[in-house]
Amino acid sequence: MSSVDDSFADPGIARCPFDHYKMLRADAPAHMDPVIGFVWLTRRADVTGAALDSRTFRSQSDIQLRKSFQPKAQQLWDEAGIKPVDTLVTSDPPMHDDYRRLGMSLFGPKRVALLQPKIEETVNSLIDGFIDEGRCDFVKQFAALLPATIICDEYRMPPEDRARFKHWTDAAIGIQTPGISEEEEAEFSERLIKLFYYLEACLKAAADGEPGSAIHTLATFNRKDGTPFTWMERASMTQAVFVGGNETTVNMLSSSILLLCNRPDIQHALRDDPGLIDNFVEEILRLQPSVQALIRVADVDTEVAGVRIAKETPVVLSTGSANRDERFWEDPDSFRLDRTNGRQHYTFGYGRHVCIGMHLARRELKSALRILLERLDDIRLEDPARQPEYLPLPFFRGLAEVSIRFEKKP
Ligand code: HEM
Repeated sequence: MSSVDDSFADPGIARCPFDHYKMLRADAPAHMDPVIGFVWLTRRADVTGAALDSRTFRSQSDIQLRKSFQPKAQQLWDEAGIKPVDTLVTSDPPMHDDYRRLGMSLFGPKRVALLQPKIEETVNSLIDGFIDEGRCDFVKQFAALLPATIICDEYRMPPEDRARFKHWTDAAIGIQTPGISEEEEAEFSERLIKLFYYLEACLKAAADGEPGSAIHTLATFNRKDGTPFTWMERASMTQAVFVGGNETTVNMLSSSILLLCNRPDIQHALRDDPGLIDNFVEEILRLQPSVQALIRVADVDTEVAGVRIAKETPVVLSTGSANRDERFWEDPDSFRLDRTNGRQHYTFGYGRHVCIGMHLARRELKSALRILLERLDDIRLEDPARQPEYLPLPFFRGLAEVSIRFEKKP
């Protein structure tokens, strides 16, 4: 059992934070992590309150969108002439309102419904690529490629460029990890700069191109008063959507397949009644969220759960913990297909920044699972003696590798 002296910087806790969350919810619901120095809010009610209070807990900070670096990385950014701008996830009202209008116009339910055939075609062609081998490296051969294909298509990028993106987008997550070395930071920066240049070129090409794609909207949508966004703002939003739309869904797909491997009973239940896939998706989102927290900064001196939080303290709204809070959820740690309030998790956030890609993510997850279960039988781990391990990331949850075996269904 962990104690309040333990830290999310401990790789063991970062790989599996759920017992630590439970202890904090009971004993220290607003707790300064002794190594990382951020305050973690772990009860659902406190996460809700903070997510709705953007005056006290602002989103703009140097944590999610790094703007200053250790010397090696700083030199790379300076030479590249890129000054990252706070837009969607790292901006606050009133600036956020205009960015949000653009964000909401990208992947609403109607637009996502139009993408359904493309999603199904992609799922089927990825499965075609490995089905005859009876095995695959699920992360590399499926999960990493499905959301990337959809987003790259929406960005009108050539298909042959897709394989490079996971390498680049991993850097966006890596650079947010507290305590990384100067070398790691420089290496992540190098990749992010390449991604930035690449996306900027897509954006400029799209401005004069055909309407009807996300990249065209990002290149041409203006503020409410009609004034255009700057190119740096557009490039920043293009990158935020690209990164936000990739890793998050990749990791949910990988967690889903891992759960199916470990729970053949659930595989059977879903094949018997595909109508349960919707509940499966909500339950995996609740229990294994690829985004574990919303990052904020106290904009004023404040207090939560009797604990004083000084102005400028980074505050972690732990949605991963709120999703298992026993004050709200019945039997919170169990995976239950019959849960009736499953959609009330905070995996897509809560409040004004709630995820603009949630309709797309849900549709990708549901289509992928339905078709995988239709075409593959007896999905299992390639090496049952070796459970894939989650990466030691305090704010994210992801698997580097899940190798599976299966029988091809007739
Ligand atoms: C299962 C997959 C996904 C998860 C778990 C997820 C999670 C989240 C969370 C927790 C937030 C709120 C952040 C905050 O309040 O600080 C968020 C916002 C956001 N997400 Fe997602 N997301 C997913 C998929 C996507 C997709 C597919 C896209 C785009 C295609 C996307 C784009 C964004 C953007 C641009 C924001 C910022 C919205 C704003 O600040 O107004 N996400 N997401």
